[in-house]
Amino acid sequence: EPWRVLVTRNFPEAGMSILREEPNLEVVIPDEPEASDAMPYDKMKAMLSEAPGYDALLCFLTDKIDPPLLDAAGSRLKTISTMSVGFNHMDVDAGKERGLTMGHTPDVLTNTVADFILGMTISTMRRIPAGVKVVKDDVWGKWAPLYMCGRDVHHATVGIMGLGRIGMAVAKRLMGFDCEILYSDAFRMDERAATVGATYVEFDDLLARSDIVIPLCPLTPETTGLFGADAFGKMKETAVLINCSRGEIVNQDALYDALTSGSIWAAGLDVTVPEPLPASDKLVALENCVIVPHMASATVACREDMARIAARNVVAAHRGEKLPHAVPGTTK
Ligand code: GLV
Ligand code: GLV
Repeated sequence: EPWRVLVTRNFPEAGMSILREEPNLEVVIPDEPEASDAMPYDKMKAMLSEAPGYDALLCFLTDKIDPPLLDAAGSRLKTISTMSVGFNHMDVDAGKERGLTMGHTPDVLTNTVADFILGMTISTMRRIPAGVKVVKDDVWGKWAPLYMCGRDVHHATVGIMGLGRIGMAVAKRLMGFDCEILYSDAFRMDERAATVGATYVEFDDLLARSDIVIPLCPLTPETTGLFGADAFGKMKETAVLINCSRGEIVNQDALYDALTSGSIWAAGLDVTVPEPLPASDKLVALENCVIVPHMASATVACREDMARIAARNVVAAHRGEKLPHAVPGTTK
């Protein structure tokens, strides 16, 4: 009997072909147009609970994987592979309790995301979206000494909260901008940090000293709402916040207050709550808030690489091998 894999929505051919080439693997995926959107939770639960069931689930950050869903899938389910580096949408402890292996897609997106974070940083500090807007709206103002002035990225002090793979890649790029790089993390890693010229500081010092604050930590109960009124109050009035991690790390009401009261200067957000963020949201109207639709890893090459890794994790599980990219703490 073939091993059955449920893929919850359309999946790049780069990954699909790896699944198809694996002998004795049956791939189930919704038909278009359904496959173009996230599978509704109830539908996913219903499909997983139907006989004969599935051995593997290939999912995305738009899918919520919680205990009721895992219970619906029953004991046939052996592995879950997400095409994302973040795994806050999956209840990892619940998966471990049920003996599942779980995979994600780190490494292949590190440089792509780091490039984008530099782009967001420069866009926000140099007001590139505001400049584009005045041209498109036909309100290009006359040149004046202070017209469209922003703030310099070069020689800025940058505070990276969470010096993981992406944090390291961002710091490495910022060395080329002659930035002073500070980092804060649950763990000190002085040797690793030294290779990118980053110095450890306590979180409050990072907030107080940085011109650019970049959270690059995973979303956990400890980091939820980490950037609230208290944190913004400690930041410089000239500082910018660049969030390309998860929206929940920032308290958006507090961010709105900080941006409108001048308690911080600007923000660049690739992630929000909710996603998509409606255009009627009060943050969208702010000129000093640059918001883009969760696209930091969105290059064709990167998404294809992520699809390949997500597929290889499933193939490894099928062969009874260790997942090449297991969610930390889930290898058996
Ligand atoms: C993107 O946010 C990811 O987790 O891959
Ligand atoms: C997080 O997954 C990172 O790569 O820093």
